[in-house]
Amino acid sequence: MSNRYLSIENVDMTFHAKGVESQVLKGIDLTVDRGEYIAIIGHSGCGKSTLLNIVAGLTESTSGAVILDGKEVNSPGPDRSVVFQNHSLLPWLTVYENVALAVNKTCARTKNKAERHEWIIKNLEMVGMGHALDKRPAEISGGMKQRVGIARALAMEPKVLLLDEPFGALDALTRAHLQEEVMRIQDELGNTVIMITHDVDEAVLLSDRIVMLTNGPSARIGEILDIELPRPRDRIALADDPRYNHYRQEVLRFLYEKQRKVESLAQRRGAVGEKEKGEKQKDEKEKAKERARAKA
Ligand SMILES: Nc1ncnc2c1ncn2[C@@H]1O[C@H](COP(=O)(O)OP(=O)(O)O)[C@@H](O)[C@H]1O
Ligand SMILES: [Mg+2]
Repeated sequence: MSNRYLSIENVDMTFHAKGVESQVLKGIDLTVDRGEYIAIIGHSGCGKSTLLNIVAGLTESTSGAVILDGKEVNSPGPDRSVVFQNHSLLPWLTVYENVALAVNKTCARTKNKAERHEWIIKNLEMVGMGHALDKRPAEISGGMKQRVGIARALAMEPKVLLLDEPFGALDALTRAHLQEEVMRIQDELGNTVIMITHDVDEAVLLSDRIVMLTNGPSARIGEILDIELPRPRDRIALADDPRYNHYRQEVLRFLYEKQRKVESLAQRRGAVGEKEKGEKQKDEKEKAKERARAKA
């Protein structure tokens, strides 16, 4: 049963820079249920971050609306917390203090001092950072910084958690660990999540639905794929699961179809020959990389 917890309604976004108008998003419509995990995937520069920032209230859309739990989103608020690819911790504060800053702001009325302290510790322990409370960001690894960023976001008890390529800058092993953590936490807390990624495996592993954006300019939602894999999900077991591989293929097909569209446009402009050969080689390389990744 759909309960339309979050709805993005006919959102358009046009930027004006130096007298040039560029439409990035066109007619984006999406409804998200409470507790749903949505992945947004699309080629670089198509407008994924722009869309997330609109939901966060950091960017004002040109037209359309975002409604969260019955209220229109017009500005940033504690009901939507964002985790960016490049951790945004304050370098002069410790791990504990970084989370405390958010908790003291959002929970000042609902929790007393002792309760806030407990809450900060609880959230840091949830992401496995209970041992590093007094460390400063410069003293911990990139993966640990992202963990703290996630703890800080969760501690605000947002209605929706917005993740903009949160694991994009991490090495493969750390990324896998954090994906597991996020799955476990979501299973425990039932968060509503919108996560941007360009990693096909990550999208299939983590989400309930994958929203695929077309290439910009004027990007739209091209397709939405329901991922009906039972939870908890195990990446090793899924590697041999035909349904998992079917979903992967569907996303890859979408992304490559869009790629072909770009090529045929180039062809129409007469840019055939060497360029096309180069594109094809690039395509083959990408596919080989995907195959290697699937095996790994
Ligand atoms: N503040 C801005 N002013 C002008 N153009 C912008 C602004 N923010 C993003 N863009 C443009 O919008 C397009 C989409 O950007 P973005 O949403 O960051 O893409 P993605 O996250 O999918 O890689 C890009 O062409 C980018 O240059
Ligand atoms: Mg982006």
